[in-house]
Amino acid sequence: MKVTIIGAGYVGLVTAACFASFGNDVICVEKNRERISKLNSGVSPIYEPGLDELLTENIKSKRITFTDDIKKGIDFSNIIFLCVGTPQDDNGKADLSQVEEASRQIALNLNEFKIIVEKSTVPVNTHLWVKKTINRYAKKDIKFSVASNPEFLREGSAIKDFTEPDRIVVGVEDSESEKVFRELYKPLTDKGFPLLVTAPPTAELIKHASNSFLAMKISFINIVANLCEKSGADIETVAHGMGLDKRIGRSFLNAGIGYGGSCFPKDVKAFINMGEEFGLNFNLLREVDKINSDRRAHFLKLVESVLWINKDKTISIWGLAFKPNTDDVRESPAIDIVKHLLESGAKIKVFDPVAMGSFKRLFPESEQLIYCSDMYEPLKESNALLIVTEWEEFKKADLKRVKELLTIPIIVDGRNIYDKDRLRELDIEYFSIGR
Ligand code: NAD
Ligand code: UGA
Repeated sequence: MKVTIIGAGYVGLVTAACFASFGNDVICVEKNRERISKLNSGVSPIYEPGLDELLTENIKSKRITFTDDIKKGIDFSNIIFLCVGTPQDDNGKADLSQVEEASRQIALNLNEFKIIVEKSTVPVNTHLWVKKTINRYAKKDIKFSVASNPEFLREGSAIKDFTEPDRIVVGVEDSESEKVFRELYKPLTDKGFPLLVTAPPTAELIKHASNSFLAMKISFINIVANLCEKSGADIETVAHGMGLDKRIGRSFLNAGIGYGGSCFPKDVKAFINMGEEFGLNFNLLREVDKINSDRRAHFLKLVESVLWINKDKTISIWGLAFKPNTDDVRESPAIDIVKHLLESGAKIKVFDPVAMGSFKRLFPESEQLIYCSDMYEPLKESNALLIVTEWEEFKKADLKRVKELLTIPIIVDGRNIYDKDRLRELDIEYFSIGR
C-alpha cells in the first residue's frame, strides 16, 4: 500500500518507519527544510532507540522518501496521516493551527478520493473541523473521508509500542475506510494485536482520556508519596502493594518529580478545557495538573532542606531529558530545576547521555552551568548530586566512585533509583521521594 505522512517528528517518523517495515511505500512530508536535508542524508533528527536502523534500512530500499513538497505527498497515496504538532496555546487549549494548515494544504491539492487520518492528539470532534476545512478550501467537489487513528507510543520505546501495541484504535465514518485500515494494520492484527473500530469522536476521546488517566495515576501516587514522607511509610512498598491488585496494576505508580514531556502536561490541560467547553467540571484533572506542577518545587525544597543554602555551592545533575531513552526535553522537570538553582546562585554541572544538545538550546553553557562529557566528570568538587532522569547507566553507577568524587557525599534522588540501605552502608547521605 502507499502511505503519506505529514510531519516528520517523533510520531511521524516512527509511523513512517514502521509502516515501511511492514512493506508499504511511504512518503513523509515535512515543512522544516533542515529536518528534510538531515533525513535525506540518512541522519535522524531525533534520538529514539531503533529508529536510525529502521530508517536507514527503509531509505536504502526506497520504501521511505522525504519531501517538503505537499502536492507531491498528496498525489502519492490515498491515505494521508496528519502527524503534526498540537501544542498548548496560551490558555491551555490545544493549538490546532498545524492541523488546520495541513487540512487546507490537503484541500488545495485534493485530486481524487483520499482518507485523511488524524494521528495527532486532538480534542473530540476535531475531525468535523478537518472535514469542514477541506470542504471549504477544496477546489473541486471531490469525495474524501476523515478518520481518527490516535497514537499511543511512548518516547524511548516508540518502535516497540508501535509494533507491539496494547491496542490499535481506529475511528471511521465508512466501511471503505475501515477496510483500508484493516489491510494496513494486518501485519499486527495477524499477530493477535487488537484493532478497535469505532466512530471518529470516540477514537479521539479514547486518546485524551487514556493520557489523562495515566497522568492521574502519577499524580495520585505523588500525593501519596507526600503522605509517606509525613507519616513514615515507604512509597515504593505502598506502590508495590497497590500494584499487586490486578485492577490497579503497578505501572505508572512511580513517585518522583512528576510527569513532563510534550504530551501529558498539554493533554491534561486540553482535556480540562475541552470538558469545560461542553459545560463539564473537570476539577479532578485540575488537581492532577496542580499536584504535578508542585512536584518540582517539592524536590527543590528537599534540596534546600539538605543543602540549607544553594548560593556558591557546586551541584551536579544527572539527567536532563523528561524521561530516559530520549533526547526530548520538552516540559522536562530539569528545566525548572536548573532555572531555580541558577537563580539561587549555585554553580551547576550536568550530564545526560543524549539530551545535552537539546538542553543547551534552552540553557547555553556558561561559567555557572557546565555540560560534562562523562557521568562522573561533574562530581569532582561538587557538594551534592541530584538525580533528575532515571537513565539505566545512573542506576548502574559505581557508587563507591561517586562517593570518592563528591566533595560532600550527598545524593538527592528525584526518581528513587537507589536502594536506600545500600547507600547507608556506603555512608552516602541519601534523600529520595516518599521514603
Ligand atoms: P513534533 O513537533 O515532533 O513533530 C511535528 C512535525 O510536523 C514537525 O517536524 C513540524 O515541522 C511538522 N509539520 C507541522 N505542520 C506541517 C505541515 N503543514 N506540513 C509538513 N510538516 C508539518 O510532534 P510529535 O511529538 O511527533 O507529536 C505529533 C502529534 O502526535 C501531537 O499531536 C502529539 O500530541 C501526538 N503524540 C505524540 C507522541 C510522542 O511521544 N511525541 C505520542 C503520541 C501522540
Ligand atoms: C505518554 C504515554 O505513555 C503514551 O501512551 C502516549 O502515546 C504519549 O504520552 C503521547 O500521547 O504523547 P511519553 O510522554 O512518551 O508517553 O512517556 P511516558 O513513559 O508516559 O512518561 C511521561 C512522563 O511521566 C515522564 O516524565 C515520566 O518520567 C513520568 N512518569 C511516568 C512518572 O513520573 N511516573 C510513572 O510511573 C510513569
